[in-house]
Amino acid sequence: MMTDVTPAAPCALRLGAGRGGPWRSEPSDCGVYTKPYERSHIRMTPIVDRVECIVQDKLGDWPRQWEGFHWPGYTYEHTLRVRSLALALGEREGADPQVVELAALLHDIEKEVGKGHAAAGAETAERILAELEVDEALASAVCDAIATHTGGNTPDHPVENLVLGDADLIDANFGLVATWRFITIRAGHRMPMDETISSMAEWLPKKEALRDVLLTEAAKEITAARSARMQEFCRQLAEAWANGERNGEFDLPDLAEFITARHQTANLGRQIAELREATPDGREVSAAVAEILAGLEEEMAGRA
Ligand SMILES: [Fe+2]
Repeated sequence: MMTDVTPAAPCALRLGAGRGGPWRSEPSDCGVYTKPYERSHIRMTPIVDRVECIVQDKLGDWPRQWEGFHWPGYTYEHTLRVRSLALALGEREGADPQVVELAALLHDIEKEVGKGHAAAGAETAERILAELEVDEALASAVCDAIATHTGGNTPDHPVENLVLGDADLIDANFGLVATWRFITIRAGHRMPMDETISSMAEWLPKKEALRDVLLTEAAKEITAARSARMQEFCRQLAEAWANGERNGEFDLPDLAEFITARHQTANLGRQIAELREATPDGREVSAAVAEILAGLEEEMAGRA
């Protein structure tokens, strides 16, 4: 299913819009509690919806213009993918989904700060969650996960922290999504396609080295599959590009050019939707491109 990343109308669920709502009224009927924040008598969905709105308001069009490795909307779309992946990893690792989901949504809320965005993000998250009257123990676990997500984790940290850190690292560096990001960034830096494709030979080994940083088994497993997929995509693209023949279908070189042409307003969800509707000149997509699109959708949903 496609992730909807269309900028929303001003959000009625943001902070200050109807505090003290009904989400605190329903006690949880879970029988066994192993962690303090699981004692929370909170129905989570309305809180998640409001947090999602707050994050979209802040990151939906940040930064205003393309800069470095960021462009308008990238961080918000990345956030939604990290949520999907962190929840999937967390399910396999026994993490608390409430902590994982809120931490993933808020983890880059202060991305504009730069290097210190994890600590700044934890502070902002604390304020937001207090405003939403989220249970203190739950909020504390969320903020702790945000504070350690940029390289601050050790195997001794809570599993919620680990899955967030791993999901964040994977989204930016592994898989078809990371390859789409690579092509987009090179396009933003005005690199000709020849060079973008040849530079993949240096880029891929650098990514491989990051696999050692992952801390959960679930992340290591999914990364092995993503790594294989991205290597194969890069290999096929380089081969088709060198071959130079276009066989009448919308093939991998066309896909790379399509991504490049849309780098200024790069939005993966919208690009896939556009290609699913029709290619720019109406050609059918090749089997290789169809496979890439399906793989991208699986990765965006955290299923691969
Ligand atoms: Fe992130």
